[in-house]
Amino acid sequence: MAEILQKVIEENRQGEAYAPFAEDPNAYSKKFYMESYGCQMNFSDSEIVASILHEEGFGATRNLEEANLIFINTCSIREKAEQTVRHRLQTFKKLKEEQPGMLIGVLGCMAERLKAKFLEEEKLVDIVVGPDAYRSLPGLITEAEGGQKTVNVLLSREETYADISPVRLDSNGVTAFVSIMRGCNNMCTFCVVPFTRGRERSRDAESIVAECQDLFNRGFREVTLLGQNVDSYYYTTADGTEITFGKLLEMVALISPLLRIRFSTSHPKDITDDVLHTMAKYENICEYIHLPVQSGNTRILQHMNRTYTREWYLAKVKRIREIMPDCGLSTDVISGFCSETEEEHQDTISLMEIVRFDMAYMFSYSERPGTLAARRYEDDVPEDVKKRRLEEIINLQNKHSRESYQNDIGKTFKVLIEGDSKRSDMDWCGRNSQNKMMVFPKGNYQLQKGDYVNVKVNTATSATLIGEIVD
Ligand code: SAH
Ligand code: SF4
Ligand code: F3S
Repeated sequence: MAEILQKVIEENRQGEAYAPFAEDPNAYSKKFYMESYGCQMNFSDSEIVASILHEEGFGATRNLEEANLIFINTCSIREKAEQTVRHRLQTFKKLKEEQPGMLIGVLGCMAERLKAKFLEEEKLVDIVVGPDAYRSLPGLITEAEGGQKTVNVLLSREETYADISPVRLDSNGVTAFVSIMRGCNNMCTFCVVPFTRGRERSRDAESIVAECQDLFNRGFREVTLLGQNVDSYYYTTADGTEITFGKLLEMVALISPLLRIRFSTSHPKDITDDVLHTMAKYENICEYIHLPVQSGNTRILQHMNRTYTREWYLAKVKRIREIMPDCGLSTDVISGFCSETEEEHQDTISLMEIVRFDMAYMFSYSERPGTLAARRYEDDVPEDVKKRRLEEIINLQNKHSRESYQNDIGKTFKVLIEGDSKRSDMDWCGRNSQNKMMVFPKGNYQLQKGDYVNVKVNTATSATLIGEIVD
């Protein structure tokens, strides 16, 4: 049971792939097929890549067989994420044997981690491109079409793709991701991201606001501002104005009260009162924070180089709830990090009991080559112990999620309609401010996706609120 759940969680968080959809696929002479794995930032990057490819005359296809170019945007966060990619490459290999002219490119974090080694390990790959090198794709594709294997994995201190207008892939037309920064300077010891994504840099604030305004003009009603550590966003404009994350949130919130704003991810050490007050001030900034804790034990947190303690984290949660009593909270947890004892694991359990997260992404520790932890510490918690601790964490979280959703029965929430529910076109689905998915009958109301509607909750599962429209 726990294993199945973990698989679902893994898929949601890191294993989800999609093949993009082009607005007018026949407008292009050549076709690309792309699958994305990993975090939202990777998905957002795929939209930048699609934009670059469109300029080069490549249209998107969902049909692998008709692709001239297959791209796989990869993730290295855990070993399993990399295994998934290698599996997929085996499928592509068969295709390529049938269609030798087809080019295969590996993008993203695994490309960055393995660099040219990828070409040796996976003979079918023609192009390897890291997250900061997508502008060089046109040249690399031309070279690859001429029969050369090509690699560009240079990381940059400046690249933010600020001027590239992403092609929204697989979009519902209502919600969109907007990248506000790249890279990460935090050096959590378990984490590969600083190595695959490079130094932290913030994107020009005006280009962010312009992109959000454009989305709004095109009918989008929700933007999620993305970065590995959004609270350390910092940009100085040409006239010397300093823009913090709180200020940026406000600038985007002022586009229109009808545009909802979400963001991810917040680091507990960096989220400020200023950000919390800005969230409370603007009704269209959603009251939901993803605040990864990783562990409930201070010694382990120190080993992870998270730079906060258990007490600091709990104080942050208290502060959030003082300023926004109804704020939704979710987290990330890692079980079985190097040298974690049973008592230290229990500290994670007790922290979860105190906070009662609405939702969590839970993982067992997976050592990543080259990280500080891999170099400094021994991965000494046996696999079965990691799994058992993870199972305890998952079971507890499932209980808390169920309770959190049950507690909403009888309440009324404002919901942004995202489209038909998965199960039935007689029902709408959409999320409330706290990021909970709600499903409700369309009834006789003349509504469409992108509209806001008040919905009263009648019943709940552990991941969905089911209700009805109220006036
Ligand atoms: N920038 C975000 C996290 C990005 S990675 C933050 O700092 O919170 C998403 C999650 O993957 C992390 O929060 C962590 O829980 C998990 N993760 C990262 N590296 C991992 C590893 N080596 N093993 C297991 N889980 C890991
Ligand atoms: Fe990784 Fe830590 Fe940066 Fe998050 S903050 S991306 S966990 S190094
Ligand atoms: Fe994975 Fe890279 Fe994101 S390692 S989680 S795709 S930043």
